[in-house]
Amino acid sequence: MKHSILILNGPNLNLLGTRQPEVYGPVTLQDIEASCVAKAEALGVTMDFRQSNHEGVLIDALHAARGVHSGVILNAGALTHTSIALMDAISAIMLPVIELHLSNIHARETFRHKSWIAPVALGQICGFGAAGYPLAMEALVGYLGSAE
Ligand code: DQA
Repeated sequence: MKHSILILNGPNLNLLGTRQPEVYGPVTLQDIEASCVAKAEALGVTMDFRQSNHEGVLIDALHAARGVHSGVILNAGALTHTSIALMDAISAIMLPVIELHLSNIHARETFRHKSWIAPVALGQICGFGAAGYPLAMEALVGYLGSAE
């Protein structure tokens, strides 16, 4: 059976392209989604790509992923550094979750060094800009294949 991946994007990522391009690059979230569609095809998986500015909507999407998706790629934006609720949701759903960031959060302000997602994530990819999305998909599909 084909694996299905949920790619979930948090607050302010809808503004990519115009939001601090010196930090996040010039690409829009729509460009990133298109690259993920192409990568999903190449990897032979299906994919659902979403963005919300609301913590509860992200939590609901994680809950709804159970029984539907094989794994999740999560760029939680600033909620990464604040949300114990997202951390708990990840622990609760028992699906592999890859934490993703466009920027290298460890090379930025100290408040970005703390991630509540990292302790419950399968792994973390950060600092590769938009290229991190297809990289994360490859990593997740590789993991799912090895876990079969
Ligand atoms: C981000 C990094 C976060 O610190 C920041 O709040 C974001 C984007 C990234 O993709 O680099 O919104 O998750």
